[in-house]
Amino acid sequence: MRFGNHSSWKSLSSAVLSAVLLSAAPAIHAQTSTQTSAQSNQNDLTGYWDLRVPVGDGTYRETFFELQQHGQALTGRIFGRTPQGIPMQGTLTGSAIHLSTVPIPIGGGGTRPPMVFDGTFEGGKLSIESRNHAGQSTKGDAERSTREAAMPPAPLPLPAPRDLPDNGLVRTPPMGWNSWNKFAGRITDADIRSMADAMVSTGMDKLGYLYINIDDTWQLGRDAAGNITMNEKFPNMKALADYVHSKGLKIGIYSSPGPKTCAIYEGSFGHEDQDAKTYAAWGIDYLKYDLCGARAVYSLSEATERGLYQKMGEALERTKRPIVYSLCQYGDFDPWKWGAKTSGNLWRTTGDIEDKWKSMDKIGFSQLAIASYTRPGRWNDPDMLEIGNGGMNADEYRTHMSLWSMLSAPLIAGNDLRTMSDETKSILMNKEVIAVDQDPAAKPTQILAGGSGQPGTVETLWRPMQDGSIIIGIFNRGEQPTVAGFEWTSLPGGLAGKSRSARDLWTHQAVPVDGAKFASTIPAHGVTLLRIH
Ligand code: GLA
Repeated sequence: MRFGNHSSWKSLSSAVLSAVLLSAAPAIHAQTSTQTSAQSNQNDLTGYWDLRVPVGDGTYRETFFELQQHGQALTGRIFGRTPQGIPMQGTLTGSAIHLSTVPIPIGGGGTRPPMVFDGTFEGGKLSIESRNHAGQSTKGDAERSTREAAMPPAPLPLPAPRDLPDNGLVRTPPMGWNSWNKFAGRITDADIRSMADAMVSTGMDKLGYLYINIDDTWQLGRDAAGNITMNEKFPNMKALADYVHSKGLKIGIYSSPGPKTCAIYEGSFGHEDQDAKTYAAWGIDYLKYDLCGARAVYSLSEATERGLYQKMGEALERTKRPIVYSLCQYGDFDPWKWGAKTSGNLWRTTGDIEDKWKSMDKIGFSQLAIASYTRPGRWNDPDMLEIGNGGMNADEYRTHMSLWSMLSAPLIAGNDLRTMSDETKSILMNKEVIAVDQDPAAKPTQILAGGSGQPGTVETLWRPMQDGSIIIGIFNRGEQPTVAGFEWTSLPGGLAGKSRSARDLWTHQAVPVDGAKFASTIPAHGVTLLRIH
């Protein structure tokens, strides 16, 4: 059995970064080694060291050091942010070891606070307490290692490019829930079960929310046969899938084409077929496949990324189980142009969303430029919803829900469904807005007016619906309430001057269509959303 481990050269998500003691970002070191035979000398620290800090779920986080000892003086590198590693220096006085990263300039004449390591070196064993840039500390033991162990593995061959057939799934944008935005690395089996319960008890399932998706940090490592194993937070994945299915819901899981995921848990690198089979045997219905760790192994290009996603796409296809395939590579190399060819059903179009107006506003409105790429079964994914997580106000969350729905974006809630306020429910469970998202025609949203693309402006968007009606969304991206509207004669979609009825999808009331103009007062960061027949 190999235990789950998290090595420092793999990529980390920004969310995880803040939690990781050593802030170990992608760190591939291609140095020429000065490793010596001092490994055999128990009193000499020279060589490679693997520091392991337990995470608390049966896995541990690994960081590699290379050290040289000259009497009491130590020099070396920690494999962190740069390919060459971050230089360190320190001392060994008796059994007391002290190391510190050398100051790194950060612009403006300042330097980055050092990472500091203090501990003991006794009987060939190194025990270390580490303090990161933010002053957070953790403890772990380091053992002798090798340069090879500290290096990312060699790339594996990728399949010859071919267009995979459409898997026929998610003809309307997928709806459900995902663990990452609220729980990150703390998600457990019990949370997933209670989230499935809440999906049903709130009635969200009846509105179309179907998938309960486990994001990163469920993995442990691999057994002797190479099968992926779960850490202590997930005792029995098959039983969990059965439970979620028993509620009439579907279950999703997460992996990476790299050796490690973004949170530095075990990825599917070299085990794609085996993992796809395992997911199918467990009864998994949805896979989010997140590039992260692959960036340390492959030099990335559109061809490489397509190859990596095609490889898992083919593995999923071979299982013959309907598994929604969600590509997560942050929009690099325009996946809206090729994601479907890897049998992808949805592809992230941007970096990670944060529960902040600025993040949601930037991500959401940047989607207008690529809105025309959506088709049934092929969805642009501007990332999961933050509604109910507390970082935005209700007007901002209504904008989030309205914009995502106008864009036919996946509606994957990211909040705690067990403790939702009535206001959060009224936003996530607005039937009339969900109907916009789920319109089977999936026609793209277009710009009617505004369209400067700049934060702070009013954007008026429209979208034709299958039944001949149109949706108009007037978004106030500014910091002050504003009065905005349109002339009835200017309506697109063949409705100019002919509209018979209009409905406000947030007040759930009819809007008078007489008079020359529609106008409403829109709060700062708010929206007026109309369906017009
Ligand atoms: C990346 C993804 C996130 C989440 C984390 C998990 O940052 O973009 O959505 O899956 O990884 O580590």
